[in-house]
Amino acid sequence: MNEIDHLGASLLAEIASAQDEAALEQIRIAAVGKAGSISALLKTLGAMTPDERKEKGPLINGLRDAVAAALAARKAALGEAVLEARLASETIDVSLPVREGPEARGRIHPISQVIDEITAIFGDMGFAVAEGPDVETDDLNFTKLNFPVGHPAREMHDTFFFHPDADGERKLLRTHTSPVQVRTMLAQQPPIRVICPGRTYRMDSDQTHTPMFHQVEGLVIDKAAHMGHLKWILEEFCKAFFEIDTVKMRFRPSFFPFTEPSMEVDIQCSRKGGEIRFGEGEDWLEILGCGMVHPNVLRNCGLDPDVYQGFAWGMGIDRIAMLKYGMPDLRPFFEADVRWLAHYGFRPLDLPTLTGGLSS
Ligand code: DAH
Repeated sequence: MNEIDHLGASLLAEIASAQDEAALEQIRIAAVGKAGSISALLKTLGAMTPDERKEKGPLINGLRDAVAAALAARKAALGEAVLEARLASETIDVSLPVREGPEARGRIHPISQVIDEITAIFGDMGFAVAEGPDVETDDLNFTKLNFPVGHPAREMHDTFFFHPDADGERKLLRTHTSPVQVRTMLAQQPPIRVICPGRTYRMDSDQTHTPMFHQVEGLVIDKAAHMGHLKWILEEFCKAFFEIDTVKMRFRPSFFPFTEPSMEVDIQCSRKGGEIRFGEGEDWLEILGCGMVHPNVLRNCGLDPDVYQGFAWGMGIDRIAMLKYGMPDLRPFFEADVRWLAHYGFRPLDLPTLTGGLSS
């Protein structure tokens, strides 16, 4: 075998066994680079006699072309192999069902949903949302709301008290959202129109009571706010919230230290077949307490009862959530069981609005 054939055979063998493009490039440089073996052969053509050149020229050029073609072919084959490997490792089965994202899988807790619904309804009537802390002072939870020290009404609340602090002050977990009324009146001048949704606490636990529960308070203070307004607001609220056209309500005399007169409100319902329906039937169901704000409370909050008057109400959020969505037991609300939440929860993108619907 002559020198050219020998070089050709060894170059083609190297090219055939090159494992990647980098190795192939090394071979290319060693053959046709400036100091490459084929380049060296090409340089010898200049010093040859015409006859020699006639014989060797086609052989050397043929070698160069054969090596160039083998390099290109091997490069293409290596590229294809890389692509094949990638395609094999990245296969996707397009016939599989689409996996749901968090916005489709997540659920809004019924309590959050009901708070959003209540806020949408009262927001539409011009109410703002006011908030207060869960850890409250005795003064705001009781005294300013006209519960005198030692008054038996304090005992009715089954309060969780903290140990007295250095000043002897005994903080508590608020037993109702009514202290937010006081905070609002102390912080802003009438006219006042607020709702105060939030967590409340009492030492109580059975099918319809949990130690932590939720209330929403309403407060309207103005120069001429009266019980006619209160009745209209509550009626409109009940119609909107329970998504019914008519509602019958019954106002019964009651007692709260912070209102005078005080009332409890029942709405008409039917309980046929163990299912509660509103807007029909002959039964009554208590849903809230309300009344005209007591002059002592106005005074305690720096307002002159001869100038200002108003009304307030307080409602259990958990209770009306159970009624609206037919949930018999309150305790699972707070057990954080994802199976319960998947069943009773709401889709995060279905925001309750009066125009779009409260509970779609
Ligand atoms: N705070 C009362 C309770 O927890 C509920 C309540 C009744 C609030 C009458 C009010 C009201 O604002 O006027 O039992």
